[in-house]
Amino acid sequence: MQQLTFYLNDESDTCELGKSLARVLESGLKIYLHGDLGSGKTTLTRALLKEAGHTGKVKSPTYTLVEPYVIELNGHTVDLLHFDLYRMSCPEEFLEAGFRDHFNEETVCFIEWAEKAESALPAADIDVSFEISGDGRTVELRSLSEKGFRCLENLRFVPHQ
Ligand SMILES: Nc1ncnc2c1ncn2[C@@H]1O[C@H](COP(=O)(O)OP(=O)(O)OP(=O)(O)O)[C@@H](O)[C@H]1O
Ligand SMILES: [Mg+2]
Repeated sequence: MQQLTFYLNDESDTCELGKSLARVLESGLKIYLHGDLGSGKTTLTRALLKEAGHTGKVKSPTYTLVEPYVIELNGHTVDLLHFDLYRMSCPEEFLEAGFRDHFNEETVCFIEWAEKAESALPAADIDVSFEISGDGRTVELRSLSEKGFRCLENLRFVPHQ
């Protein structure tokens, strides 16, 4: 298992981490983002999407539950699904919405508030946990599969001092 912990001084550090992650993404990755409201999950995903070639707006999927994007990965276009399940009331809602169909080797899935869907979700490749600490954030990235391990092994990121 690969486990990395960083202290992110400010929003620009969170964005840099998102950009670094964009450079090591692989198709099929499922990345679950944990942490309190306003801890940085959407900020990270937004920066990652921009680095991966998305040029339009990145809305928080708070009300839509999911926003789809098309990104470039190693010369191929791949669908990236950005979920925010905060407003989901039970795991069945996830299944009824057909969200399981989005999880396959051809997509990349980022999920905020994955805990709301619990058992309905496939296992994550990487867990990212944010904690508000002082003026910044402590973030921990943990690989949970071989694919996730490879991704974190290649990650190059140093927060600014
Ligand atoms: N490392 C950091 N240090 C301090 N502030 C940060 C840092 N990273 C992001 N922020 C700020 O914290 C807030 C994070 O908001 P964001 O929408 O990303 O949170 P979220 O985890 O997605 O919340 P929600 O669960 O409500 O969707 C933003 O105001 C952003 O500017
Ligand atoms: Mg968010």
